[in-house]
Amino acid sequence: MWLTEKFGLSVPVVGAPMANVSGGRLTAAISAAGGLGMLGAGSAVSAEWIRTEGAIAAAAGKPYGIGLMAWSVADHPEHLEAVLDLRPALVSLSFGDYTPYVGTLHEAGIVVATQAGTVADAREAVDAGVDVIVARGAEAGGHGRNAVATLPLLQAILDLTDVPVLAGGGISGPRGLAAVLAAGAVGGWIGTAFLTCVEAQTKEPARRRILEADETDTVYGTVFDAASRAGWPDEFGGRALRNAFFDTWEGHEEELKTQDAAHDDYVDGTRAADPARASIYAGQGVGALTGRPTAAEVLTGFASYGDYLRAALNGGSK
Ligand SMILES: Cc1cc2nc3c(=O)[nH]c(=O)nc-3n(C[C@H](O)[C@H](O)[C@H](O)COP(=O)(O)O)c2cc1C
Repeated sequence: MWLTEKFGLSVPVVGAPMANVSGGRLTAAISAAGGLGMLGAGSAVSAEWIRTEGAIAAAAGKPYGIGLMAWSVADHPEHLEAVLDLRPALVSLSFGDYTPYVGTLHEAGIVVATQAGTVADAREAVDAGVDVIVARGAEAGGHGRNAVATLPLLQAILDLTDVPVLAGGGISGPRGLAAVLAAGAVGGWIGTAFLTCVEAQTKEPARRRILEADETDTVYGTVFDAASRAGWPDEFGGRALRNAFFDTWEGHEEELKTQDAAHDDYVDGTRAADPARASIYAGQGVGALTGRPTAAEVLTGFASYGDYLRAALNGGSK
């Protein structure tokens, strides 16, 4: 299979880039355990952070990736420079115009991915020469589109192109991984399932809230972006755990953008990881999280996908 052969993986899982969650430690742990870990470089990080965490990720001696926010690279060319110096095996550029950077990354020998939320997004990625397209459904955690769920999107993109396709959004265990592999994806692009790993940067109050949450507890919107003032384009909202801050401001996002007190409250709440005020990004698969596993334990769980594929062919018995 393209993914496992290209990067020498034993499990067809990419640990999706997650800002404030997947630093060097989680990235290295996922890569060391046979998946492909990815550093989540949000728009607010420094180039120094990318270099430091990238070095930690690389220390596993295995291929790893880095995910950049495409919309912020024009304002932060130093992010791309740091990435080019590190030369990770895979770079994803998602959410915004990534086309100016594809050639530069290819010249450095780096495989390029992007997350597509619609078939039109996927068509653009094919035209731009992207090497692997992530069919990222609306049930996914973090930022992206809320347009189409993973399964219809995955099928449509697989019908569209021969470029390798990864499935992202709602893959919470080996059953889901088996489903997308059976459909024709080369692997899973998986974030939420790693949120409570011991190696993740997730702060303790957020971890506790994530572990309590069930599959109905997420919301999608731009409330937290309006409060954060990080500069997110309005077309990309985020999926996070519902809380009092979201409920207060949903429907009043334009007003929120100019509310200094609410901005301060959000920043303060996020710093403390206060579940009532912070943006705790998570997908609908959050309900499946039960403890504080190591990344290697999560990957061992995903590695049993073959049992489900065999059972599907054997009338239900593994
Ligand atoms: C906490 C969190 C942070 C995220 N940060 C990023 C990011 O920095 N860059 C990015 O491209 N995607 C980011 N995403 C989206 C993921 O790359 C991926 O699309 C998503 O996690 C897949 O769906 P799942 O969460 O249902 O597994 C983030 C997702 C989560 C849950």
